[in-house]
Order: sequence, then C-alpha cells, then structure tokens
Amino acid sequence: MAIRRFSEKKLTAEVLHRIRKTKNRRLKQVMTAYIKHLHAFVREVKPTPEEWMQGIQFLTETGHWSTDKRQEFILMSDTLGVSMLVDALNYKASGGATQSTVLGPFHRENSPEFALGANVAKNPADGETCVISGTVRDTAGRAVAGAKLDIWEGGADGLYDSQKGDEMNLRGVFRTDGKGRFHFRCVVPTFYPVPNDGPVGKMLVATGRHPMRPPHLHFWITAPGYRPLITHLFRKGGKYLDSDAVFGVKPELIVDFKKGRDGVVTASYDFVLMKEKK
Ligand SMILES: [Fe+2]
Repeated sequence: MAIRRFSEKKLTAEVLHRIRKTKNRRLKQVMTAYIKHLHAFVREVKPTPEEWMQGIQFLTETGHWSTDKRQEFILMSDTLGVSMLVDALNYKASGGATQSTVLGPFHRENSPEFALGANVAKNPADGETCVISGTVRDTAGRAVAGAKLDIWEGGADGLYDSQKGDEMNLRGVFRTDGKGRFHFRCVVPTFYPVPNDGPVGKMLVATGRHPMRPPHLHFWITAPGYRPLITHLFRKGGKYLDSDAVFGVKPELIVDFKKGRDGVVTASYDFVLMKEKK
C-alpha cells in the first residue's frame, strides 16, 4: 500500500504501514500504539494550527525547564497520574507485601550512609524531630537482615535539599540489623507544593488544581533476592491526603505520627518485600 494522493481517512494506516520494517518487536508495538492513539487524539480534539503549536510549545518549555536537578517531564507524568499508572501495572503487591507508590523527582544517588539511630536532619530549623522504627520482612514473615533503606524527605519549609543547593540533608541510607529491624531520626513530614513555577505549574492552575502533596517520607528499600520497594509513609491526619497532586496516596501507607508523654514524636511501620521474580 502506498498513497500517492493524500487521504485523511487512510493516513493513519499509511503511517503504520511505513514503520512495518521496524526490527525491534517491542519498539514496533510501542510506536504502533503511539501513532494510533496520537491520531485518534487529534481526530477527537481537532486542534487549530495555533492550538497544535501551543501544545508543541508546552512540550518544548517542559524540556527547557528540565535539568539534572529539576525534571519537569517527571512532574508532568506524576501530575497526570501516569507515574502511578506505570507503577500500578508493574508492581503488584501480593501476599501481604507493602504497597508501592511514586518515586518522585527528589531522590538522589549516593545519599550518606548512617548507623541505625542517627538523625538525617542537620539543622534544628529542619523541623520537629521524630523517630521512625520498624522491620523489614518477607511475605513469609522472615526478617530481612541487612536490607538497605534509602530515605528522603522535605523540611519544614516544604523544600527538599536539592531545591536549595548541592548539600545533602534530610536523606540517608540505613541497613536493618540481624532481626530485620531499623530505627532512625528525621523530621515530622510536612505537606509541600510540587515545583509549580514552570509549565506544569501553569497546567495545574489552568485546570483548576492545586500543586500540594500530603505530608510523607520517601523509602526505597532493597535487599538481594527481593524486588526493590519504592514507597512513602504518609502522615495520618495530614492535609491533602485526599487530593495529592501526584495521586500517590494509598490507605495502607498512612501511619500515625504520635507524640508520646516524653514529647517525642514516633511512627513505626513493618515493610514486607516480595521475592525477586525468577
Ligand atoms: Fe516527596
């Protein structure tokens, strides 16, 4: 098939025909779906040339705003629910395993490693101290010793360290003890806005949305033989739990941050890892 004369009706089929020699089968599948859905989108929306250019400019701007510290495309994926959808299709917690949620744009490689009990907050102004403790187990209830917990959070000012400079703060790596236990100190998580001074922020405003995320603490838990678990703990009673800008809240991940008689805030959680797929 080859069309010499343009036909709107046959255009989609012709574009698909043109990629028929794609060797990589997965790429062919992805490109076929992409072309079909993109054409269907245009047929449904019928953008004017000006609107189409506006769309292209939005994507161009999204690229221009992205750096090694600010990833506007991840933010777009997060705020459109795509990150959660990709996660939901890939990580299906079963057998009592802990639920996963979005990675988000603020994880950093090579976080400092700390001994159990250490405080990841460097400054008193970072927020109210709290103690997080718990265990890491497998779905059979066995302790996972030496599991690596990479944790990170924003401070009381609603900002992550990377939004302020290069210095690492409010993040760290801990390892579970021989009985799969961990404990460390950090600050009570607070709600904060996703970066909203770029194109994604404009999109949120234009669609009547707020940019806020409910209070949470990030975890990336890994151990040999187990599937990596990327998740958060959300603070019970925190603001925006019902309208997280990135759709990341799952009820199983909401925990109580309790203030004890001694005035110390504590929270605990027992994480359950799934075995690596064979
Ligand atoms: Fe976060």
